[in-house]
Amino acid sequence: MSKKLLLKDAHIEGIRYFETYRKQGGYEAVEKAFKMTPEEITEEVKTSGLRGRGGAGFPTGLKWSFLAKPEGVPRHLVVNADESEPGTFKDRYLMEFLPHLLIEGMIISSFALGAHDSYIYIRGEYAWITNILEEAIDEAKAAGFLGKNILNSGYDLEIYVHRGAGAYICGEETALLESLEGKRGNPRLKPPFPAVKGAWERPTVVNNVETIAAVVPIINITGAEYAKIGVGKSTGTKLISACGNINKPGVYEIDMTISVEEFIYSDDYCGGIPNGKKLKACIPGGSSVPIVPANLLLKTINGEDRIMNYESLADGGFATGTMMGSGGFIVLDEDQSVVEHTMTLARFYNHESCGQCTPCREGTGWMYRILKKILRGDGEMKDIDLLWDIQRKIEGNTICPLGDAAAWPVAAAIRHFRDEFEWYIDNPESQTRNYGMSNYA
Ligand code: NAI
Repeated sequence: MSKKLLLKDAHIEGIRYFETYRKQGGYEAVEKAFKMTPEEITEEVKTSGLRGRGGAGFPTGLKWSFLAKPEGVPRHLVVNADESEPGTFKDRYLMEFLPHLLIEGMIISSFALGAHDSYIYIRGEYAWITNILEEAIDEAKAAGFLGKNILNSGYDLEIYVHRGAGAYICGEETALLESLEGKRGNPRLKPPFPAVKGAWERPTVVNNVETIAAVVPIINITGAEYAKIGVGKSTGTKLISACGNINKPGVYEIDMTISVEEFIYSDDYCGGIPNGKKLKACIPGGSSVPIVPANLLLKTINGEDRIMNYESLADGGFATGTMMGSGGFIVLDEDQSVVEHTMTLARFYNHESCGQCTPCREGTGWMYRILKKILRGDGEMKDIDLLWDIQRKIEGNTICPLGDAAAWPVAAAIRHFRDEFEWYIDNPESQTRNYGMSNYA
């Protein structure tokens, strides 16, 4: 069983509330951090090797050190809680059950960054969690951990919760900042990165919920001890939200040394596939990362066990590997249709495209319509090449990664399951002609 750092107290009744959280050692990391300098905290985070848990895996300490610090200009920490990636629901779990872990992490991180106004941008659909967070913020404030002169340190901090309105694109950090500023959530060109020009054009660090929560154990056990957990550049623990055809869907904390096979079949985690069905494929990092067939999922191109970490999952690059991404682990058994699954994702990305960049706005619609055409039995062999061509024209040609996220699932599905696309085209009469009708209009 993996070591637990974030969820170790998640089962304790009442841990959502300040009193219980404090009894379990909560906020001791804040007390420890306030005896350190901001630079020392950043150094601990760097030493820990913590990588951004939202999906990109960018080194957190490095991002913090990029924060511009011009005299007299306020800077901000913005926590990205706009968790919208299909298959990803780990931040929801953290915030719902351990809101004080996030707040404690935010206090330490804001102190390290010199921020006095910090924000949690939460997806609109998590309305009940907004209430939980606001209640926890009030409790922390009443206990002297937020507000003016925290623990007599002379440091002031306010945390605000800002609810989004249900647009996936607002999870992209610059669209998020636009939305936070009250504007339409259109992504900005990078550079400048938010660390230089973020919220209200001020230096801003945008970090994922899990990333900021991980700062608490890092301060508690030290960065060096945190770095000993895991392997290579995959240090510490990672939350995985597992769903699809598995016996035990849920949120698991893993230490990034266990194999994919163990994660799927062990009773400690997913508990295998229902009804003894065979594993067909998996999307291990949220819907944006490439789907991989079972054989390539369980073994690397060198024939070694594939491990649940950043390096091993990406082994072989996009041709054979996939990505750790946000840790949204979606399992497909032998009865699932990859073409149908790909169409569902294409519909999602088409719906969520902000429309700013032509390749994404138009290309996602084309991919969706061609996939529907194939599924309703009207496909032609040339459609597969057309799909391939369209996804190639989207990838890398848009302001933000939504375009890539829409292109990669299509590319991986064709790369690994081309025969399935061909089968649909060769067997038009076996298709449900409902596709493209009301259900999928
Ligand atoms: P990115 O690689 O562009 O950036 C990662 C982070 O590093 C950003 O905060 C960026 O500002 C920072 N950064 C990179 N270079 C920098 C530099 N030179 N100076 C300062 N800061 C720098 O990736 P992005 O767009 O933030 O995230 C993409 C990932 O998000 C995808 O891989 C996907 O897995 C994930 N994702 C997660 C979702 C979720 O619900 N958790 C939803 C959709 C996508």
